[in-house]
Amino acid sequence: MSNPAVTYEREMVPVLFRPWVGALLDLAQPAPGEHLLDLACGTGIVARLAAPRVAPDGRVVGVDLNPDMLGVAQVQGALEGLDIEWKQGRLEVLPFAEAEFDLALCQHGLQFVPDRAAALGEARRVLRDDGRLALAVWCGLDHHPFWSRFNDVLVELIGIPALASPFALGEASELESLLRDAGFRDISIEARAMPAAFPDPDTFVAMEVDVIAAAVPATQHLDAKARAELTEAAQARMAGAIREQMCDGHVVVPMHSHLVLARM
Ligand SMILES: C[S@@+](CC[C@H](N)C(=O)[O-])C[C@H]1O[C@@H](n2cnc3c(N)ncnc32)[C@H](O)[C@@H]1O
Repeated sequence: MSNPAVTYEREMVPVLFRPWVGALLDLAQPAPGEHLLDLACGTGIVARLAAPRVAPDGRVVGVDLNPDMLGVAQVQGALEGLDIEWKQGRLEVLPFAEAEFDLALCQHGLQFVPDRAAALGEARRVLRDDGRLALAVWCGLDHHPFWSRFNDVLVELIGIPALASPFALGEASELESLLRDAGFRDISIEARAMPAAFPDPDTFVAMEVDVIAAAVPATQHLDAKARAELTEAAQARMAGAIREQMCDGHVVVPMHSHLVLARM
């Protein structure tokens, strides 16, 4: 089984994450010369697609907890000829000075952070006085019945609601009060939907398990053998639900997200 971060970049980014970057950047409007921070950057898809927008004099930095994700980000960024700095760090204690950035972006990352208030406080600290923050955050599991079923299966098999965390910050009202309490203003929150079409139903569960291990800190202890056992058991339990989502040979899952823009 491959490095989960490599699987994440190859299998999940094109289907589940890259499609949202355009909407996030349209909202945030990065401009030439700006200094931009991609929070919880993972393999860096937001930073990589944003970099040309701030070129040639801008600065792009990606920060993430997971060194494997950053390793893939570094390789991909170099392959794409991009000048991006990748830093390991936690959103709750950002490794940057005050007022270093014009724009902070966080795509499907804030919900994983245990202390979100601290993370937003840190985002604010590293932004300039006229800075802005743009977020994409999945709506809750109540909007995602397929993932809710998969989450139930994971609880049954490993006792960890591993798919709860991606959807854990699903209420617009909670997002708004977190941002307001952190001191942000002019907060706009919009709900959007887009289908995610996974091309290979036969490897779908294996890929998901691999990716969960990369992206969900509570499962990062699962080694290759544990992931293989989990895959086999989850495959059997999810077969019916996957069949219900099939369309033109793809597993098609409607995704719902909040897109958020806030100013200092
Ligand atoms: C679903 S991935 C999203 C990655 C990326 N933003 C994208 O759109 O592909 C969530 C990321 O959040 C990171 N993460 C989780 N908790 C974090 C924390 N406290 N500080 C920094 N990164 C964190 C994980 O390592 C993972 O790379």
